[in-house]
Amino acid sequence: MTALRAGLIGLGAMGRNHARILSGLEGVTFVGAVDPAGDPHGCLRGAAALPDVDALLARGVDYVVVACPTAFHEDVGLHLAESGVCALIEKPLAHSAEAARRLVDAFEERGLVAGVGHIERFNPALQQLRSRLEAGELGEVFQVVTRRQGPFPHRIADVGVVKDLATHDIDLTSWITGHPYASLSARTLSKSGREHEDMVAVVGSLTDGTMVSHLVNWLSPLKERFAAVTGERGCFVADTLTADLSFHANGAVATEWEALRAFRGVAEGDTVRYAFPKREPLVVEHERFRDAVLGEPSEIVTVREGLRTVEVSAAVLEAARQTTGVRGMTTPVPVAPTVISSGTAVPAGALTREHTV
Ligand SMILES: NC(=O)c1ccc[n+]([C@@H]2O[C@H](COP(=O)([O-])OP(=O)(O)OC[C@H]3O[C@@H](n4cnc5c(N)ncnc54)[C@H](O)[C@@H]3O)[C@@H](O)[C@H]2O)c1
Repeated sequence: MTALRAGLIGLGAMGRNHARILSGLEGVTFVGAVDPAGDPHGCLRGAAALPDVDALLARGVDYVVVACPTAFHEDVGLHLAESGVCALIEKPLAHSAEAARRLVDAFEERGLVAGVGHIERFNPALQQLRSRLEAGELGEVFQVVTRRQGPFPHRIADVGVVKDLATHDIDLTSWITGHPYASLSARTLSKSGREHEDMVAVVGSLTDGTMVSHLVNWLSPLKERFAAVTGERGCFVADTLTADLSFHANGAVATEWEALRAFRGVAEGDTVRYAFPKREPLVVEHERFRDAVLGEPSEIVTVREGLRTVEVSAAVLEAARQTTGVRGMTTPVPVAPTVISSGTAVPAGALTREHTV
C-alpha cells in the first residue's frame, strides 16, 4: 500500500502528541508541520518545520491534522477544504456555531473526509460503557452526570471552558446514549479576570427524556474526569483519566409488605470493575481517521457531529446569559445552626438560605 502523506498545523500541548503518533503511524508518512513558534517541543522527528499552510500543501499531502488554537480552526480548515485536502480538526470544531457550519459546508460540498478530535470517544472506558448501554445492560437510562475539573491552563485564552472542555462532555453524552440534547439551562462564572467563563454548571434533557448534568471548570486543584450513568438496573461510573469502568448494581429488594410490592426501590448490590484492553485513545483516533481517508469503513467523529456539539455549547452560553430560574432566594432567611468543617457552629441567621443549598 502507498503511504498516505499527512501534515500537522500547530505543535503545542496537543500538537506534540499528534506529531508523536503521526511519526509512527503505519501506512502514513509524516511530511511536516506548521507552527509560528517553530518546533517548540522538539517533536518533529525528521518531518519538516514549514513556514505556512501553503508550504505544507506544496509538499503534497492527503490529509492534515489541525491542532492550532481554536480561534484559527475556521481559517485553516477552509484553506484546506478549498485546496481539496482532508482534515482531522481538533475539538471544538470551531469557536462559533456559524464558523463550524461554514467548515461543514466546505468539506461536505467537496466530498472530503473531515473529522473532529473528540478524543473521549476513543477512551476505552467510554467505548465499553457505550457498548454496554447499547446492549441494554442498564435497562432504561435515567440520568447522565459528568464532572471535568482541573487546574487553570494559561495557554488557552481564545475560548472559555464551555467550548474548550465542556464540548468533551456534550459530545460523549450524546454519543454514549445515542440521543441529542433537547433543552438545557446553565450558570457560568469567570474568576480568572479573562474575557471568557472558567466554570460552568449545566442541567439539561436529551430528546428521550434522559436528564443530564455537567460540572466543568478550570478552577480546581483536583483533576477529575468523571461520568456516571444511572438507570433501571444500577449505575455505571467511568473515569476517563484512568480508563476504568465500574458497575454498581441495584440489589434485589425483597419485601413482604404487600402494599409496597409495586414500588421497586433501589438498594446497594454488587460492584464490578471491568477488565478490558486499554489502547491509547489518540492512536485509535488516528488509525480510524487514516482508514476513513483510505476509503475504508471506519467510525470517525464527523464535522457534522462536531457542529452539533458546538451548537449545544453555544446554547449553554446563551442559557447562562438568560438568568432564568426561580428567583427571590437572595433574601436572608434565618436557618438552623450549621456546623462547618472546623467544627465551629455558625449561629442561626449568619447564612442565607442560598449558602446552604
Ligand atoms: N482533544 C483533546 O483532548 C485536546 C486537548 C488539548 C487541546 N485540544 C485542542 O487542540 C488545539 C490546540 O490546543 P493546545 O492545548 O495544543 O494549545 P497550545 O497553545 O499548547 O498550542 C497551540 C500551538 O499552535 C501554534 N499556533 C498558533 N497560531 C497558529 C497558526 N495560525 N498556525 C499554526 N500554528 C499556530 C502555537 O504556536 C502553539 O504552539 C485547541 O483547539 C484545543 O481545543 C484538544
